[in-house]
Amino acid sequence: MRRHLISHAIYAAALLTLGAVSAGAADTTAVQEKAAVCSGCHGENGISQTENIPSLAGQPDQFLQWQLVFFRAGSRKNEQMQPIAQDIANEDIRSLGAYFAAMTPPKAAEDGDPDLSKKGAQVAAGRRCASCHTDSFAGTKAVARLAGQREEYLVKALQDYKSSRRVGGGGAAMADVAYHMSEEEITAVAHYLAYFK
Ligand code: HEC
Ligand code: HEC
Repeated sequence: MRRHLISHAIYAAALLTLGAVSAGAADTTAVQEKAAVCSGCHGENGISQTENIPSLAGQPDQFLQWQLVFFRAGSRKNEQMQPIAQDIANEDIRSLGAYFAAMTPPKAAEDGDPDLSKKGAQVAAGRRCASCHTDSFAGTKAVARLAGQREEYLVKALQDYKSSRRVGGGGAAMADVAYHMSEEEITAVAHYLAYFK
């Protein structure tokens, strides 16, 4: 009788272990399946080929998670992203954040207008963008990566903050920054950052 109980316990333990292993494998497949939906717009490998859609590859994990939370809550508005984020579970937000953060960030193409970049560099220095976005503009924690992002998306994002269409986290840090920027400054700094190496 006792032997029977022991073997039963071993069998149960083995089942639990197996269960854990297959659940791990299922997690990886599940996040890949969920991310496939995102690739339709955000591009293969998280690098966007589409106007006004940002690349996600290499964005800080926390930044990605917060933006999904903002879309889900409706505090960040976008007719394409809101329906997608609407029913997203917290655990999917965590796994998708980690998934895109681990991808290789977009590599900036050859800069076709170095003069505009020079102006943009002056704007970035004068407005202390790097003090939050880091010297490499790779971002950190809830602060976005800017280096290599699509140029027209950077312009749009800055205009959205300037007009208060987008509020964002970090104590509305970006609204304060963008509010004081002219259209010329926005154009120049977006170009500088899109081609930043
Ligand atoms: C139908 C197209 C579409 C699909 C599918 C889509 N997105 Fe988006 N996503 C967008 C657009 C457009 C924006 C930019 C919104 C804006 O301008 O504010 C965006 C923005 C984002 C942002 C904010 C990034 C930033 O730099 O501010 C995140 C994070 C994001 N999407 C994650 C996802 C994830 C994860 C999925 C898959 C579950 C996904 N998206 C699927 C269109 C899409
Ligand atoms: C005080 C800190 C701070 C400073 C200074 C700052 N930023 Fe930001 N920036 C942030 C934070 C925090 C976010 C994320 C906000 C959110 O959740 O929407 C952000 C987001 C952005 C985004 C949106 C990126 C995306 O993928 O959606 C752009 C573009 C941006 N910043 C550009 C700039 C530029 C250009 C400057 C300098 C002119 C600058 N920032 C200065 C903190 C800062």
